[in-house]
Amino acid sequence: MEAIQPTLTPVVITSVSADAPQALIIAFCNREDMFSRGRLTAALSIVLASLFCASRSAAQDRPLRQSASERQFLIGAAVAMSPFRNEPAYQQTLGREFNIIVAENAFKWDSMHPTRNTFNFSDTDALVDFAESHGMKIRGHTLVWHNQVPDWLRNGGFSRDEVISILREHILTFVGRYRGRVWAWDVVNEAIDDSTAALRTSSFWYQIIGPDYIRLAFQFAHEADPDAILYYNDYSIEGLNAKSDAVFNLVRDLKTDGVAIGGVGWQMHQVNGFRIQPANQTNARRLGDLGLQISITEMDVRINLPTTPDKLAQQALAYRDTIEFCLSEPNCKALVTWGFTDKYWWIPGFFSGWGDALPLDTNYQLKPAYYSLRDVLEQGLDFTPRLTGVSREGKKLLVAGEKFESGAQLFINGEKQKKVSNDSDNPSTLLVAKKSGKTVKSGDIIQVKNPGGVGSNELIYP
Ligand code: XIL
Repeated sequence: MEAIQPTLTPVVITSVSADAPQALIIAFCNREDMFSRGRLTAALSIVLASLFCASRSAAQDRPLRQSASERQFLIGAAVAMSPFRNEPAYQQTLGREFNIIVAENAFKWDSMHPTRNTFNFSDTDALVDFAESHGMKIRGHTLVWHNQVPDWLRNGGFSRDEVISILREHILTFVGRYRGRVWAWDVVNEAIDDSTAALRTSSFWYQIIGPDYIRLAFQFAHEADPDAILYYNDYSIEGLNAKSDAVFNLVRDLKTDGVAIGGVGWQMHQVNGFRIQPANQTNARRLGDLGLQISITEMDVRINLPTTPDKLAQQALAYRDTIEFCLSEPNCKALVTWGFTDKYWWIPGFFSGWGDALPLDTNYQLKPAYYSLRDVLEQGLDFTPRLTGVSREGKKLLVAGEKFESGAQLFINGEKQKKVSNDSDNPSTLLVAKKSGKTVKSGDIIQVKNPGGVGSNELIYP
């Protein structure tokens, strides 16, 4: 049997900086060039490397989603259609790392409802199918926003009643198509104006329908999918300020009036240097007291270019703080980044001179920010059984690992496999699934559960 084992590549480093221990450990194992400046001797460096990297080795190849799933937490990213369709590494990384996705643009009006009588479901179907086949949840973004409203609607000269009926048809058709399949919808996006901390009166929806557009959108979405979690989503509302107060008042009133709102999305497009503050906790809790969940829906941490190792270490702290915060607030359910690789990111078109805001770099290499997320997600988790490799032998699927018990069950993409047995020669370390080897394919998620246990880490079939 040729099991796929996590590998540790030896690192030889000649000098390190002593002034950033966190980033140092991360980069040691990540082999960044952070260590070209520094003072420690070569010998001490190698000792440190073996100590720190060994302590991380059990987790070396465990993607974010494994630890997140173990905690019932959602870690995700926004998806851009062009690389999704054209660049294999993009899809592979998505499937490997995340257990929730959101479309960067494909779910917006201008993409999927380009003329009055045309709905374009090719991209939305592709994303929903991808999520389902990879055991992921999906967020729907967004049903009502002042941007990316198609010209046919904005300039169509429609009356208030007509726009309400177009909105209703849009939501019933779109949300209804994926009823039971989209975990949460951003029903209304960015309705509060930064400068006035009141409703954004310049919005097309406000101008034609008036303030009732918000309730109507929630009502239609609830009618189309009563089980989806319906969100209000906005930026600069994670702290305590006039805008977040306005959002609080808005969602409180909606709750009081029985509107089916379930959560508030904090976009969290941040500038490097961002750290979580006590105000974030206070804000999360006042929303929790209303019975609302929160999700971080569009996080990125933009760096003032050029990027340096120190700036990457600082960025890692922003991500570390945020995942720690979200995991420690019971109503915080998800952390979704707006993209995941610096190769495809929206900010350069919007904020020139800024970039490198995401956890993977332009070559899909893991950045210090990624390791921060993973470190925090893994803290205190002990997977039993623990899978280390999977391979095929004819019709058999062989799963290598530790702590298998007799009667352990094998799952492929959540589906329980038949004819599974412990290997008689090596029952504690090998599970043999007859037949499953015939059907397994690249990207499939392999998991094992001991009788009465919570389940192993997930392995992706190579
Ligand atoms: C952005 C996309 O990333 C861009 O590709 C598009 O040109 C404009 O919209 N807040 C939101 C997102 O809610 O929908 C925005 O996405 C980024 C800001």
